[in-house]
Amino acid sequence: MNFRNLLMASAMTAAAIGFVAPAPAVAAGAKDVQLLNWWTSGGEAAALDVLKQYLAKEGYAWKDVPVAGGGGEAAMTTLKAMVAGGDPPMASQILGYFALDYAEAGKLANVNSLAKKEDWAKVLPTALQKFTTTDGNWDAIPINIHSVNWIWVNKAVMAKIGGTEPKNFAELIALMDKAKKAGVTPLALGGQPWQEAILFDSVVASTGGIGFYKKAFIDLDETALKSDTMKTAFDNLAKLRAYVDPNYAGRDWNLATAMVIKGDALMQVMGDWAKGEFKVAHKEAGADFLCYRFPGTDGSVIYNTDMFAMFKVPESQRAGQLALADASMSVAVQSAFNAIKGSVPARMDVPDTAFDMCGKKGIADVKKANAAGTFVGSMAQNYAQPPAIAEAYHDVVTKFFHGEIKTSTEAVADLYKSIEAAK
Ligand code: BGC
Repeated sequence: MNFRNLLMASAMTAAAIGFVAPAPAVAAGAKDVQLLNWWTSGGEAAALDVLKQYLAKEGYAWKDVPVAGGGGEAAMTTLKAMVAGGDPPMASQILGYFALDYAEAGKLANVNSLAKKEDWAKVLPTALQKFTTTDGNWDAIPINIHSVNWIWVNKAVMAKIGGTEPKNFAELIALMDKAKKAGVTPLALGGQPWQEAILFDSVVASTGGIGFYKKAFIDLDETALKSDTMKTAFDNLAKLRAYVDPNYAGRDWNLATAMVIKGDALMQVMGDWAKGEFKVAHKEAGADFLCYRFPGTDGSVIYNTDMFAMFKVPESQRAGQLALADASMSVAVQSAFNAIKGSVPARMDVPDTAFDMCGKKGIADVKKANAAGTFVGSMAQNYAQPPAIAEAYHDVVTKFFHGEIKTSTEAVADLYKSIEAAK
């Protein structure tokens, strides 16, 4: 299959599962940088522009391979088809265990010379290096650290209902009741599996504590997975159903964010890419919106990192690939890019001066959590377990949220069974 047919085939798969087809990619030349990515929302595109401009100044033209679809599911389908067809992109945005799979399959190139020269091992959290390196080879470049255990709140709506920051799950419910009484949708949710799974990451950590989250999702400990605490987590998730609007099913994440921006909803539970949408809408942290850690998870960072996997490419494309890696790891790009994107720099030595109050909190939280052992990979976002297990998780959580799995007891049993089957 040639390159274009491959893209069409993956576009058809993507369309079949409800995503927008990717734009045709252009083969990269010597002074080109090609990146497959799913950064197609307003905030995401604005952040990506920082990287494009930086590389343009160095004389590199940007060859975008955008594959719309939040969370990157459609992008990963496209990437798989391109790699299988022997025509991988120069680099691809990628999450956690997906990168490890490509590395193990021998598909990735390394940028060891750059990594050594700039001593990346010193400036990146150790936890991330499990995903950026394989057998000591640096083959994925982390441009940021996102975290999923955030709540994004419309400040004016909060003032109108007389709300304050919820410190535990019960207070969260009480706050949402206030919004409901005032006729505002309490919780803006995009009812897609990956978004519901993100919500459940936070609910599990809030219900059982971060130690429980780690046992269940990082260790896949049978007792934790089958515990009453997990059942209570599903009960808590079920409680949240009462606070979403009737049209939530299938909604894109950025449209849910827009509901909060406009004041049609009080809050969204979402990764800090949501902040990028507030920013492009010219809304300011502290003045127009507020960021809280999901109640009961302050002090913990449930992270995902956007990495660029470096694929094996013809020698003629190598300069562009190295330029992308170099730019993405530069302090200047990590500062400017992440201030717009909503994430925080992957490099721990980037000052927080360019960041708003939420970004400053995000940077401090990562440092604290990294030191305290509470910097933990997101199960929803492929940083706790390999793709097959993460997919099983999405599936059970979404079936439960939409009522296909009826009780929490059944959900607990199904989750354990599906995880076992996916191992
Ligand atoms: C990525 C973010 C992106 C979000 C929504 C996440 O998987 O890490 O960079 O903004 O998906 O598309």
